[in-house]
Amino acid sequence: MAQCPGCHKFGMITRAAIGTPVAPPPVMVATRSPQQIAFRPERAYVAPSTATLAPPGPDPVALRPMSLSAARVAETMARRIATGITELDRVLGGGLVDGAPILIGGDPGQGKSTLLLQVVHALARNGLPSLYVSGEESIEQISLRAQRLDITNERISVVASEDLDAALELASATQPAVIVFDSIQKMRTAEIDTRSEMAQIAECASRIRRFAKATGTPVFVVGQVTKDGQIAGPKSLEHEVDVVLYLEAGGGARRNLISFKNRHGSTDEIGMFEMREGGLVCVDEPDAALQERAAGVPGSAVFPAVIGERVQMVEIQALVGGPKTPRGDAPAKGSLSVSGVDAKRVQMILAILAKHAEIDISDRDVFVSATAGTRVTDPAADLAIALAIASSVRDLPIDPTAIAFGELGLAGEIRSVSFARARGTEGRRAGFGLAVVSVRDAHEALATAAKSLAEAIELVIGQAVAVAS
Ligand code: TYD
Ligand code: MG
Repeated sequence: MAQCPGCHKFGMITRAAIGTPVAPPPVMVATRSPQQIAFRPERAYVAPSTATLAPPGPDPVALRPMSLSAARVAETMARRIATGITELDRVLGGGLVDGAPILIGGDPGQGKSTLLLQVVHALARNGLPSLYVSGEESIEQISLRAQRLDITNERISVVASEDLDAALELASATQPAVIVFDSIQKMRTAEIDTRSEMAQIAECASRIRRFAKATGTPVFVVGQVTKDGQIAGPKSLEHEVDVVLYLEAGGGARRNLISFKNRHGSTDEIGMFEMREGGLVCVDEPDAALQERAAGVPGSAVFPAVIGERVQMVEIQALVGGPKTPRGDAPAKGSLSVSGVDAKRVQMILAILAKHAEIDISDRDVFVSATAGTRVTDPAADLAIALAIASSVRDLPIDPTAIAFGELGLAGEIRSVSFARARGTEGRRAGFGLAVVSVRDAHEALATAAKSLAEAIELVIGQAVAVAS
């Protein structure tokens, strides 16, 4: 039983061997009222089987340490439920962890409710019952979405309610394998006597966490976001959960599932989906982000980025305006706008281009962007950024079959980077025939070496001219 039939609280029932009750430790009697002790059976009684773990001595201690190696085994043994939605499972670090609350934020309409309905459906098909508590939508609205997704399953229970207390009561009576609360901002509890929205969100989140931990149930919590993209509510909300994910637009129908916090896995992974007529579909292609690439257009380069545990092809775009006319005596000065790349890094690359490749564009406006669904902060992107800028300045396209990676040094040299082999391999898998890299990486990545930035520019842009003519 999850809930105590006497006091109606959760998590108060623990396992104890019958027959040999041990008297409450004297310290408890001395410092706490009898009523409080009655609510804490795990401290008032020491089960004989576990009593042997306690250090010897007349007073049993409440805390029992675990050796670090045993703790590691316990973490790896923690039960994971793979949902079968591969992109979600990877972002979670293998699947849902028992008792772990997961917060999913994202702008309205990105597909949070759709994704979670697909999750409970995937679990239901594996025989796992779930409870979907909707404070946002009516049963009719949810069933319309279910129809659109072609979902019918006896194991999915849906309830439209904002009453958290009643929902948790229902959950402890029916014991679903997974619970969804859509959304946390709509839930209300009578546990605290306030209408303050912040306090209600905090208390509901805390109650959900306690329920999840006490019953070992994984719980999804949808979080609405404010205008500036933060999950609405008190900061403490993110501390109440084990995992914080955002479902974000990635251009067109693309949706990226990005992890900001994960107590049970890495936060480097990105899950890629496409919103289609029948719901969200997993995308697992190294060049998925390239579908709308401006191949053959000046200013577009391809960079194999390492995101989480995989390599993903990212398009780097640059647009360089014409020279500005100076006003008076002051030399004309261009501006720099970036999106998805590091502005400081691009500034450095512009200086290197001016000094070592005879491309001085300090009097022009420069725009650089990356289409990765995340920021490209890896210095390995330097070379591709420099090539995209050079291509735009010369108004000549880069060879559409080329990728490039390498860090640029201040002396204009191209330096080796991590994961060279993986980047080269994935580039070939995605259909690219030419990879331009540093001399040191060339052997490792089975790629073409460029001894200098100027040579790299001639390699990819020179070939493009040959292809075009
Ligand atoms: P929804 O899951 O309601 O978003 P959220 O819960 O994040 O607010 O998704 C709504 C959008 O997704 C809506 O614009 C319609 C679209 N959609 C599809 O394109 N295909 C589908 O199969 C479904 C169910 C929704
Ligand atoms: Mg929704």
